[in-house]
Amino acid sequence: MSFVLKVWETQISSYRLRSTEMGNQDLDQRGRWGSKAVFVFAAAGSAIGLGNIWRFPLMVGLNGGAIFVFVYILAVVMIGFTVMLAEFTVGRHTAKNPVGAYDAIKPRSLWKLAGYLGVFGCACFLSFYGVVAGWAFGYFYKTLGGTFKGEITWLASDAIFTHFAARPLEIILCLFVIIGLTTFVISRGVKAGIERWTKFLMPMLFGIIILLAIRAVSLPGAGTGLSFYLKPDFTKLNTTVVFFAVGQAFFSLSIGIGTMITYASYLSKRDNLVSSAGWVCFFDSLIALLAGIIVFPTLFATPGLTPDKFEPSTGLMFQVLPIIISKIPGGYVFGILFFFLLLVAALTSTISLLEVPVAYFVDERNWSRKKAALLVGFFCFLLGVPSGLSHGGVGIFTKWNFMKHMDLVFGNIVLALGGLIISLFVGYVWKIKNALKEISFGNTIFSLKSLWVFNVKFLAPVVIIVILIFILTLSG
Ligand code: TRP
Repeated sequence: MSFVLKVWETQISSYRLRSTEMGNQDLDQRGRWGSKAVFVFAAAGSAIGLGNIWRFPLMVGLNGGAIFVFVYILAVVMIGFTVMLAEFTVGRHTAKNPVGAYDAIKPRSLWKLAGYLGVFGCACFLSFYGVVAGWAFGYFYKTLGGTFKGEITWLASDAIFTHFAARPLEIILCLFVIIGLTTFVISRGVKAGIERWTKFLMPMLFGIIILLAIRAVSLPGAGTGLSFYLKPDFTKLNTTVVFFAVGQAFFSLSIGIGTMITYASYLSKRDNLVSSAGWVCFFDSLIALLAGIIVFPTLFATPGLTPDKFEPSTGLMFQVLPIIISKIPGGYVFGILFFFLLLVAALTSTISLLEVPVAYFVDERNWSRKKAALLVGFFCFLLGVPSGLSHGGVGIFTKWNFMKHMDLVFGNIVLALGGLIISLFVGYVWKIKNALKEISFGNTIFSLKSLWVFNVKFLAPVVIIVILIFILTLSG
C-alpha cells in the first residue's frame, strides 16, 4: 500500500514540477486538474463507489456467481476501457460538457441529444444513487452509536437493514444530507472541491477493504462462498448475464452518460489518456473484486444462511458488512472507519454525477455555478424521494419497486445506450483518425491501437445493440 502511495506521491510532485516549468499557459477560466495523477484520482474517485462495493456483489449474487464475474471482467477490458477512452478523447478535445462536446465536433446536429441524455441521465442516476449513499451515511452513524457492537447474527443484521430502509423520515433525511454535501462541494468548483477529497481517503479505503477480505477468506467455511464467487459454471451463461455484466461495467466505470467526458474536459494536452483509462479500469475492478471476496465467504460461512436459501436483497452488502466487521478485533472503531470511507467513496461519485449537469448549465446557459448546483441538487433530491421510499417506506412506491426500475433504466439501459452512441460517434462521425490524433498528445506509442479501433467501431456497438434489443424484447 505504502509503495503505491509513494508512486502516486512522486507522480504528483513530478507533474507539479513540469507544470511550473511549462508555465501555466493552459490554465483557463474553466479550471484544470493539477496533474494527470490528480485526474486519475478524481476519475477513479468517480468510478470507485457504491457500484463496486454495494452493487457488484449484488449483481454477482443475482446472476449466477462466478460466471457473472467472468463476463464482467471481459466486459471491462473489451467494452468498458474502449468507451472510457472514447469519452476521455472527446472530453479533452473539446474541453466541454457533454452537450457542448457533441455540438463542438458535429455542430447543430442531432448528436447533441446524446449530450442531453448524459446531462439528464446523470441527474436521474444521482437521485437513486443518493438513496444508497444515504444508507451508507445511516450505517455510519449507526456504527458510531454502537448498533453493531458484539457478535451479529444474519437474522439480526437482516432485521436491522429492513427496519432502517423502511423508515421514511430517516431515509429522506439521509438522502438530504448526501445531496446537500454534494451540492456544497460542487458549488465551490472543480479544483477546490474535488481534488481535496480524493487524494488521501481512497487509498485508506483500499487498505481497509484488503483487511476485511483477508478476514473473510480465513473464516471457517469460507470455501463454499469462494467457489460460488470464483468457479464459473458455464451452463449458467445467458444473455441476461451478459446484459447485466455490461451494464455493471458501465455503472462501475462511470461511463455512458458523459461523466468522463466532463472530467477529461479539465485535462491538459500533455497527459496520457490511454494509461489514465487503464489505471482507472484497473483500480475500479480491483476494488469490486475485493468487495466480492468480502461478501461471499462471509455470507456462506454465516450460520442461519444456507446457500440454497441464498437470495440477495438490495441491501446485501449492508447486511453482510456488520457481520464481518464484528469478527475483526477492534471491530467498533474499524466499522466506523469503514462506513466513513464508504461514505467518502460514495460522495466522490455523487460529486462527479452532479458535476455533469452543473457544467452544462454553467457552460451553455451561463448560470453561476452556485445557482446551477442548488437547482439541480434540489431536483435530484426530489426525484430521489420515491426511490428512498420504495423499500417499505411508502406502500405504493414499494409495490412499484420504484428504485429497482430507476436502476434498471438509468443504471443499465441509459448507460449502455450512451456507450453505444459515443462509440458510433467517435468511430464514424468524428472519425477514428481525429480521435487517434487527440490520443497521440501525451502518448506517442499506443500499442493497443488496432484493438481499440476495432472495439470502438465494431465490438462495442454490436454487443450493446444485441443486448439492448434483447432487453427491449424481454420487457415488451
Ligand atoms: N461509478 C460509480 C460507482 O461505481 C457511480 C457513478 C458515478 C456513475 N458517476 C457515474 C455511474 C456516471 C455511471 C455514470 O459507484
